[in-house]
Amino acid sequence: MSENAELSAEVNPCDANSAVTRGFDVARVRADFPILAQQVNGNPLVYLDNAATTQKPNAVIDAISNYYRFDNSNVHRGAHALSDRATEKFEGARDTLARFINSPRREQIIWTRGTTEAINLVAFSWGRVNLKSGDTILVSSLEHHSNIVPWQMVAAEVGAKVVPIPISTQGEIDMVALANMLDESVKIVSVGHVSNALGTVNPVADIVRLAHGVGAKVLVDGAQAIAHFEVDVQSLDCDFYVFSGHKVFGPTGIGVLWGRESLLNEMPPWQGGGEMIETVSFSGTTYNVLPYKFEAGTPDIAGAIGLAAAVDYLTGLDRVALAAHEADLLSYAYASAKNCAGLTRVGEAANIAGVFSFLLNGAHPSDVGTLLDHQGVAVRTGHHCAQPLMANLGISGTVRASFSIYNTREDVDRLFAALEKVKQFL
Ligand code: ALA
Repeated sequence: MSENAELSAEVNPCDANSAVTRGFDVARVRADFPILAQQVNGNPLVYLDNAATTQKPNAVIDAISNYYRFDNSNVHRGAHALSDRATEKFEGARDTLARFINSPRREQIIWTRGTTEAINLVAFSWGRVNLKSGDTILVSSLEHHSNIVPWQMVAAEVGAKVVPIPISTQGEIDMVALANMLDESVKIVSVGHVSNALGTVNPVADIVRLAHGVGAKVLVDGAQAIAHFEVDVQSLDCDFYVFSGHKVFGPTGIGVLWGRESLLNEMPPWQGGGEMIETVSFSGTTYNVLPYKFEAGTPDIAGAIGLAAAVDYLTGLDRVALAAHEADLLSYAYASAKNCAGLTRVGEAANIAGVFSFLLNGAHPSDVGTLLDHQGVAVRTGHHCAQPLMANLGISGTVRASFSIYNTREDVDRLFAALEKVKQFL
């Protein structure tokens, strides 16, 4: 984060041979992602929808394919070699993810379908027990619907209220307002690490410190952070950290809930079924230990293995160089935006990861997106599942170009060249 900001300051956006980016071989990284080498609508694909989902390297595609080709079986308690191999890979994936976010213990890694399911799990398991009438749940005004609606649902059940933390016009959380809102009625603060719509990197360690000061727990939605910089749950000191595999070069349908062990131990199971039990009888059922207490049913075995392969791939690269490369792309895009008549940036926080959100000549974002797609440039348009944020900004949506490790300055140039053509139709 701040590391990115420092590196970004060192990079001259007009110098393609800048010292920081020179050591990073983006062509080699691109070669690992076969999907990028295709034409769309008669043009080489420029994929700038990475905040929605990242592409998958061969290492991930091969890991999933090899699992189904050679090892497919159900995990745990199988009396045969395939089940043993599947279990070893599946539980090995948990170890990989634990190391990836510096979890003190592997048992704190709970597999979920993704960020959304992880937040729902916490909202309903932790929330139903720990929230009561009159309590407050704070979320920021930047949040994705998945970090608002589950809290509204549990709040309606228990009589608590969900209150938004205000943001500045640049799209940054108002930390003074947050400090003033924190009192003993606040039981949890749930914030994104990085805004999916604007890219704002939130000061989550500071938020955790403030929230803990009044005894509130903190959930960090890391969906948009996890691919951009290293996450260390111990140094953040948060209570829950959640993210999706597909945002970090892994498959869809798998994600992680990390939780503080004492909290996870106290929380009741969320879903019932196989795997999550210790003993079942009609006179009463007892539950399994962590992490299985929260993993009812056959898990997404291939998904976990694929996600571990994605993490191994990412950690095998020079992450400082990757961060510098991404910061360079953003700086270059922002510098180019200044020369693009009719373009207005949306979200100008001091610390942004991965996202360039904008409006063009007052045109509807979806028209701009369609005209870009005709030229092979893939972006996302609309409210980005952040309707309260859009209402706060007084707009219905934005055009969002979002960057990843395999994007290039040429991609940025293609985006702006395509925007010039788009203008001819507006
Ligand atoms: N949440 C995803 C996005 O921001 C889909 O695009």
